[in-house]
Amino acid sequence: MKILMSGASGLIGSALAPYLEAWGHRILRLVRDKSKKGEFWDPRQGILDLPADAEIDAAINLSGDSIGSGRWTKQKKERIRSSRIESTFLFAKGIARLKRPPKVFLSASGIGFYGDGGDVVLNETSPAGRGFLAGISREWEAAAGAAQEVGIRVVNLRISPVLSRYGGLLPRLLPLSKAGLGVVLGSGKQYMSWIAIDDLVAAMDFILGTESFSGPLNLCAPNPVTNREFTKALNTILKRPTLFRVPSFLLRAVLGEMADEEFLVSTRAVPDKLTSSGFEFKHPEIEEALRHVLRR
Ligand SMILES: NC(=O)c1ccc[n+]([C@@H]2O[C@H](COP(=O)([O-])OP(=O)(O)OC[C@H]3O[C@@H](n4cnc5c(N)ncnc54)[C@H](OP(=O)(O)O)[C@@H]3O)[C@@H](O)[C@H]2O)c1
Repeated sequence: MKILMSGASGLIGSALAPYLEAWGHRILRLVRDKSKKGEFWDPRQGILDLPADAEIDAAINLSGDSIGSGRWTKQKKERIRSSRIESTFLFAKGIARLKRPPKVFLSASGIGFYGDGGDVVLNETSPAGRGFLAGISREWEAAAGAAQEVGIRVVNLRISPVLSRYGGLLPRLLPLSKAGLGVVLGSGKQYMSWIAIDDLVAAMDFILGTESFSGPLNLCAPNPVTNREFTKALNTILKRPTLFRVPSFLLRAVLGEMADEEFLVSTRAVPDKLTSSGFEFKHPEIEEALRHVLRR
């Protein structure tokens, strides 16, 4: 297949693109920097000029300003929003206009869609939650819908935090954990879904090829854990004790709104669509998954 991919330089894209290439697919990268190899687009200016006769079999949308880095100022929140919603709409419209539109469009979203669900197990039929990220995810998924209007199969990937040595959550936590400061956050009872990068890319390949998948799909391992369980697993692997707990108020004082949306929120999402269609996770348990991605 010839696959058009945005955000290919990011954490997920830089693992996914070579994986798909190794299986014989051709990746055409959408690039925001004219000096890089690929098809140029400028989501901020609304520029995406694909030749009308471009032959693309599938499209994958992975773009978006980083959510986990930098304090959430008003400007940062606007960047988080527009770099997802406006760019997704531009991408979806761009492929919908082609003479021969691609068959499938996989578009990133997040499990932030569900907001705070407490202990409730969340699958793809669960309703949207409340909060900044839940609102963004709703709009983000709606923006991808522009491709559906011409019959493209659209899958909204509700991605959970990705475990990788090269980016995302782990490199931010590792220095603290190694220093013996791997702390439980808030009550530690809040759930978090997660997925090992290898399972994520294999699942995305599976989703590309499974025609029955459309609409929302939870991209997370089948065993979400509480923050305490996650912290203990990481500390055990690093041979460090889990001694401390940071109270919620302190976390909020340091991180602001991000504390509630990223670290104190409880999201117990499970990948019902993937598991019921026979996808097998290689790393379904947190401690083994962490050992695998950290090579420990
Ligand atoms: N990693 C996770 O744990 C996780 C969890 C849930 C959801 N997601 C979502 O999945 C997508 C890919 O995740 P990722 O971890 O690979 O993200 P990432 O490493 O931050 O990469 C995202 C890519 O988006 C492009 N980008 C950056 N700023 C942009 C902007 N202002 N406008 C348009 N494009 C911009 C960049 O690619 P170019 O420079 O090549 O354009 C960048 O490499 C993101 O939308 C993310 O929110 C990720």
